Amino acid sequence: MSFNSFGHMFRVTTFGESHGPAIGCVVDGCPPRIALTEADIQPYLDRRRPGQSRFTTQRQEPDMVRILSGVFIDAASGRQVTTGTPIALVIDNVDQRSKDYADIKDKYRPGHADYTYDVKYGLRDYRGGGRQSARETAMRVAAGAIARKIVPGLNVRGALIQMGPHRIDRARWDWAEVGRNPFFCPDAERAAFFADYLDGVRKAGSAVGAVIEIVADGVPPGLGAPIYGKLDGDLAAALMGINAVKGVEIGAGFNAAALSGEENADEMRMGNDGKPAFLSNNAGGILGGISTGQPVVVRFAVKPTSSILTPRRTVDRYGNDSEISTKGRHDPCVGIRAVPIGEAMMACVIADHFLRQRGQVGEAPAWPFAKPAP
Ligand SMILES: Cc1cc2nc3c(=O)[nH]c(=O)nc-3n(C[C@H](O)[C@H](O)[C@H](O)COP(=O)(O)O)c2cc1C
Repeated sequence: MSFNSFGHMFRVTTFGESHGPAIGCVVDGCPPRIALTEADIQPYLDRRRPGQSRFTTQRQEPDMVRILSGVFIDAASGRQVTTGTPIALVIDNVDQRSKDYADIKDKYRPGHADYTYDVKYGLRDYRGGGRQSARETAMRVAAGAIARKIVPGLNVRGALIQMGPHRIDRARWDWAEVGRNPFFCPDAERAAFFADYLDGVRKAGSAVGAVIEIVADGVPPGLGAPIYGKLDGDLAAALMGINAVKGVEIGAGFNAAALSGEENADEMRMGNDGKPAFLSNNAGGILGGISTGQPVVVRFAVKPTSSILTPRRTVDRYGNDSEISTKGRHDPCVGIRAVPIGEAMMACVIADHFLRQRGQVGEAPAWPFAKPAP
């Protein structure tokens, strides 16, 4: 059984391998009449693109997206809009160097998926990691750009908040800073430290992990499909589905276990706008699998890159003990480029639930409710 699609109403299917001619996706279920051109998608791909700084892989992929279907010029507005039919997107692979991978053809990189792909399928495309490569995630970012256009007022932003054991100082959090350094780090001081730290890691041929935080503002209350399609459950699955992600938490997450009931409960007052105001957000904007209207806050942990220069003990596919040292081009901290990928996955899940809510419930009931007459 293969699963290369996710989402229900907003459904994304990706295809392609790292060293094939192209990667692509089909986005099905996008509503019609949404303005869409390549220019709406490209800026997000440019944020994920490799080779932009010395801190990411030097593979040079322009990642120029082409829309193959699902759009048409609207006669009324003269703009190119979605038609409601499947939107196919494709990106050519242009900088493959398959010979870089000859050494790992028969050997398994510890920490990578080489062994599991081999043992499951009986063969694997070892060139650049084939389908297990995070090259595929470019298409998720492209789909995420479309998803962002579906929910009015939605703003999904991500930031790298920890690299290796080093955390940012949350008191220095500045969203504007995220676009000013190569780490998507909201703490300028920490970002300067990360540059030296990661240079050392990179020169040593090693790798480090990271923690990413994604915040979605403007998520309307009521999204999520209890019991088996809870918003937090679907977000966790989507983020866990990103390569190298080993943990996901929502709101206070694992720290919630250490809080008292009083500390954890997000108290409520009536806000001036007639809506409830929560006095804290330990829930991460989700209660009972349903969005509260507060910002949805998730974090995910990314492990260190498995392809490292340091020789590691392993076995080969013919059952012999061996040793491996991975040359070629790799990110010393894959968590950096995971930031735009995490944002995209979150946007796709929220767009999917937005359309599902519209399908099942339609117009949200007016709140607060009129008190029934006694
Ligand atoms: C943006 C990004 C780039 C990645 N690049 C590499 C890489 O260059 N080398 C590597 O060993 N792993 C890389 N990975 C991680 C592997 O794809 C991943 O560890 C592998 O497929 C095994 O899957 P798992 O770690 O989810 O179990 C990258 C991950 C991301 C998110």
